[in-house]
This record gives sequence, structure tokens and C-alpha cells, in this order.
Amino acid sequence: MVSSRRRFLEAGNYNPLIDALKSMLLDQQNIDNLLDLGCSEGTFSHAFSTMVPQVYGVDISKPAIKTASKRYKSLNLAIANITCLPLHEDTFDVATVILAPFANDIVRVIRPGGLILRVSPGYNHLVELKQRIYQDPRPHKRANLKFPFLQHKVQQEVLFEMNLDKQAVGDLIAMTPMQHRTKSSLRNLANNDDQGSIRAEFWIDVFEKTG
Ligand SMILES: C[S@@+](CC[C@H](N)C(=O)[O-])C[C@H]1O[C@@H](n2cnc3c(N)ncnc32)[C@H](O)[C@@H]1O
Repeated sequence: MVSSRRRFLEAGNYNPLIDALKSMLLDQQNIDNLLDLGCSEGTFSHAFSTMVPQVYGVDISKPAIKTASKRYKSLNLAIANITCLPLHEDTFDVATVILAPFANDIVRVIRPGGLILRVSPGYNHLVELKQRIYQDPRPHKRANLKFPFLQHKVQQEVLFEMNLDKQAVGDLIAMTPMQHRTKSSLRNLANNDDQGSIRAEFWIDVFEKTG
């Protein structure tokens, strides 16, 4: 899963999302440090490190953190659980939670006035792929926007089309819950020459810590 994610992101398939996040960060003043939660193999964390002096990444997966640390030496990385972070309170200017679980402990480690940028899938994220795998594909639900001590400041949709080759479709499936479908249906899908265009849809929600 980690190597599929690395290959898929390295090919630039989610670059419009990375660019949207970077441009949101550019709009902010005085960001000295950023914590990327559920950072996996580190592509997003590395992209942020080109604009923020200190970038920290946390993931519960040992193979993911090992892969990230081999390539991105300037990142500060740890294997840890988002629900119980081994980090001091009121420490970070910004946290990013990109397609990873959200937990209240994230709020504890952000400084008052600091920001959380959360990325979640949009209603029709990867719908063309889901239609080929599931009999009754359901749209994604909008993620919860109400949390204690957080004010929801901004929401932005990021929508783009991806024209993927067989390798990229296989990697994308391996990165998602779709990988749990029967192997034979996935083999048929990956052998199909005409992969067509696949929609990527994301929400970026920005929260500010109030207390
Ligand atoms: C869908 S992946 C997203 C990875 C990365 N943010 C990206 O977009 O490329 C979700 C990541 O969250 C991590 N994760 C899941 N539950 C976690 C937890 N409780 N604590 C820390 N990381 C967790 C997984 O190991 C995985 O790397």
C-alpha cells in the first residue's frame, strides 16, 4: 500500500490537491512549524517543507514512516497514534489531516489561534472507478464540521479529472478500501486498456483553534 501511494503521488496524480493546500498555506503569516497527521510515505509533508521551516509527520504505520524517513531526511517523523499524540500541547502553528482520521488530541497540540487543514473526499470522489467495482456505489458523506474548541473558517472544493494508465489505476485501488474487493474483479479492471477519465473530488476544511 505504501509503495503504491508513493508511486501514485510521485506521478503527480494528486498535484492539484497539493497545490491547493500550498496556496492556502501561502496565505497565512508566521508559520514556523507544521504537523502532518497520517503522513504515510511523506509526499505531502515534503511538499509543505519547501515553505515551512519545521515539518513534523506522524503515522501509525511503521512501514510508512520507514519509507518516508529514508527519502525525506529533513522531516521530523514519528510512529504514533493520532488519538494519543506523544507531543506537547499548544505546540504547532498548523496541522494537516489529509484523508486520515480526525481525533480530539489533534486540537490539544495546536497553539491557540493555530489552524487545522483537513482534507476529506468529496461526494463523487473516484466515482467512475467505484462504479466499475461496486454494484451500488454510494457517494461519500460530508465529514463532521463541529468540534469543541475549533471554529470552522473556510471550506474549499478541489475538483479535477485524472487520466490514469493501468499502473496508476492499480496503485489507486491499492491505496483505498477498494483493495478489499475480490482479486479477480480487480484483475479484470486493471487489464482493461481503456481506463478513461476518473474524477478526483476533495473538501479542504480549515479550522482555527479558539481556546
Ligand atoms: C489514506 S492514508 C493518507 C496518507 C497521506 N495523508 C496521503 O494523503 O498521502 C491514511 C493514513 O493515515 C494513517 N492512520 C490511520 N489511522 C491512524 C491513527 N490512528 N494514527 C496515526 N495514523 C493513522 C494510515 O496509516 C495511513 O497512512
